[in-house]
Amino acid sequence: MLDRAKNTTGLRPRAKQPADTAGNLASILSSKVVGQPDVIGQIVSYVEMFQAGLAPENRPVGVFLLLGPTGTGKTRTVEALAEALHGSHKNMLKIDCGEFQMEHEVAKLIGAPPGYLGHRETQPMLSQQKLTAVASEDCGLSLVLFDEIEKAATSLARLLLGVLDRGVLRLGDNSVVNFERSIIFLTSNLGAKEMMRELRPSFGFQSAVGGAAVADVTAKMQSIALAAVKRKFSPEFVNRLDHVVTYKALTHEAFAAIADHEIANLQNHINNRLGPKAFQIEVPFGTRQWLIQRGTSTEYGARELKRTVHRHLTQPLASLVARSKVASGSRVRVDVAADGESLQLRLAGEGELPAPTQPTVLLVDDNRDFLKFLERQMAESGWDLVVAESVTEARKLALKRKPAAALIDYSMPDMNGVELAQVIRKTLPETQLLMMTSSKLEEEDEAVCQEYGFPVLRKPFLAADAMNLIRKRLAGVERRGI
Ligand SMILES: Nc1ncnc2c1ncn2[C@@H]1O[C@H](COP(=O)(O)OP(=O)(O)OP(=O)(O)O)[C@@H](O)[C@H]1O
Ligand SMILES: [Mg+2]
Repeated sequence: MLDRAKNTTGLRPRAKQPADTAGNLASILSSKVVGQPDVIGQIVSYVEMFQAGLAPENRPVGVFLLLGPTGTGKTRTVEALAEALHGSHKNMLKIDCGEFQMEHEVAKLIGAPPGYLGHRETQPMLSQQKLTAVASEDCGLSLVLFDEIEKAATSLARLLLGVLDRGVLRLGDNSVVNFERSIIFLTSNLGAKEMMRELRPSFGFQSAVGGAAVADVTAKMQSIALAAVKRKFSPEFVNRLDHVVTYKALTHEAFAAIADHEIANLQNHINNRLGPKAFQIEVPFGTRQWLIQRGTSTEYGARELKRTVHRHLTQPLASLVARSKVASGSRVRVDVAADGESLQLRLAGEGELPAPTQPTVLLVDDNRDFLKFLERQMAESGWDLVVAESVTEARKLALKRKPAAALIDYSMPDMNGVELAQVIRKTLPETQLLMMTSSKLEEEDEAVCQEYGFPVLRKPFLAADAMNLIRKRLAGVERRGI
């Protein structure tokens, strides 16, 4: 990671922000970009610096080089930031560097100088007007993405050097574009092949290995990426980057979260497009696992997942709708066919219970607002939730609903949460139990958690982190065949 000393004195007018976006940016981004918490934290701190009017003068607000294996969320991160700040993933200036492989093509970015033939026809791709147009009323920060930078001719890096250094770009007609209200992202696959060779031996193993081994892999990936960057770019260029971030190869839990997201998006799309004619899709756990297996790999990450969902869910559904086979308000259930090679869609019959798409999770906390917030965030990802504000209610619900997991607050008024977890363990030995707390656990409770293997989440935490932890515990249960 390369940090540069910053001039934080340049006060600028504070950008207008929607209230809920400013505080929840990390949470919103983590729900859209799974399994990459480090990079999200770094990006959020630069956005906050801009919002506080404390970004340095004479240079962009931040310059990030995003590296790592294919399909791990590099491009998605910038799209997600554009959605969170400006309401649409299109609100960014994206330069596909693959289109600028020849030296003469780089001139298209800045336009031809006056006097050159075709001067008037060559509109620069990077202009002040375009930069301003991708910001929004809510947020004056422009996002600029140079995607797959390694594909561009070397003169593009030279041109960028001036932007990174002084925050300005001089166009062919001698006018100047100012990047002081922009974050610049560069993405690249540099070193990715070498990373794949490193990752291959541990394919399918990474999520099962302990924290230390994962940390080793991450450090190794980072050093491979940095070495590749130093081979490709000049030291001046590398020194002007604020952060060089290496994306992690995604784990099974991360793939599962992405699959949930794609399916939730499809349901939203059905609701928005069909309005009163909308119907519910039911995608049970086993079907989701089938899609993950088909749509993900160490080689291409989650890149194929969207296409897999499209091919096996969206297209067959569209065909049913086109043939008027689905009545409004009905339920369409998607199961894996008997041969395991395809998915089968059928209308769920009246009175038939909906198949749970996710294992049921019990949330227990006496803080109603917190409980509602957590419930909403987890429900958005399609989780089946039961909530309880007291221990008595929790015990009743646990017996009735037999949740696959329970996330329990430590300090409940009627009984401490660790004791409740022990009670549930006795009656429902298969339920995964997790604690959450904003205070320190008593020594003896800490010991009980250790003994029983109850993980403890410290508040504040992100809903995405809680979901990942629960998934991990449930995947462990599946692996052990309990
Ligand atoms: N971490 C992630 N969180 C959510 N979705 C992801 C993530 N990684 C990949 N995806 C899914 O896979 C698709 C491809 O990801 P993305 O374009 O971000 O890959 P990339 O890292 O930029 O890969 P490449 O190096 O090939 O450009 C995304 O559109 C998204 O659907
Ligand atoms: Mg990409």
